[in-house]
Amino acid sequence: MKGTAEPASKASAQPAPSKAKDASASAPTDEVTLERVQGNAELSSFISAADRVMEGLGYTEHGFRHANLTARIAYNVLTRAGFDEHTANLASVAGYLHDVGNMLTREAHGQTGGVLVYHALRDQVPSQDLATIVSAIANHEEENGYAVSPVSAAVILADKSDVHRSRVRKSGQIQFDIHDRVNFAAEQSFLRVDSAAKTVTLELTIDTEISQVMEYFEIFLGRMQMCRKAAEVLDCRFKLTINGAELA
Ligand SMILES: [Fe+2]
Ligand SMILES: [Fe+2]
Repeated sequence: MKGTAEPASKASAQPAPSKAKDASASAPTDEVTLERVQGNAELSSFISAADRVMEGLGYTEHGFRHANLTARIAYNVLTRAGFDEHTANLASVAGYLHDVGNMLTREAHGQTGGVLVYHALRDQVPSQDLATIVSAIANHEEENGYAVSPVSAAVILADKSDVHRSRVRKSGQIQFDIHDRVNFAAEQSFLRVDSAAKTVTLELTIDTEISQVMEYFEIFLGRMQMCRKAAEVLDCRFKLTINGAELA
């Protein structure tokens, strides 16, 4: 279907860094995998801390559930769109770590997260792979992010498709805000990649007794526009269906 998506990284000029000064400074060469990153205690503490800040701010769940789901969907998006295993692995790692910047503040958490991940993985991940990962993390929010690579596009699509009632923290007694209502109303969400038709479709099932479809658009229009551009980076068209009806 498609060739590998990453720029010809091997060919690009790598500035010659000053040679290793000690044993630990030798350039990391291992393939970074989701399993390795999941086993990193520092990064796990970042995800927990980020979710605590989100809870303090009254946001929906942004912890390990969201991290693991985004990782898995980002990986699946790229493999189904015909990208190679290495690129898909980078997408799963970036997807897993994309929200760690929330442990500082919500504002600009993509950028702060990119810097945090850079420092946590700089001795463990080859620099070009790390650059791909941190740029995807830094560009995942619609306010100031763009799909800058296939890995970045996959993270955006995976993150924005996680709309589900299990993310709402509040009990039924508490007045939901519009974000809670839309998430709570979402009974199912599925991101379907059709490599033959070259489409990426977000299929949502919404309980319209809880939230009207219009409310979904009210808060998610910017996200859907970002998904459309992300799908284009994967040479696909983005589609949205709600309760079986095609809306975009
Ligand atoms: Fe985010
Ligand atoms: Fe997220």
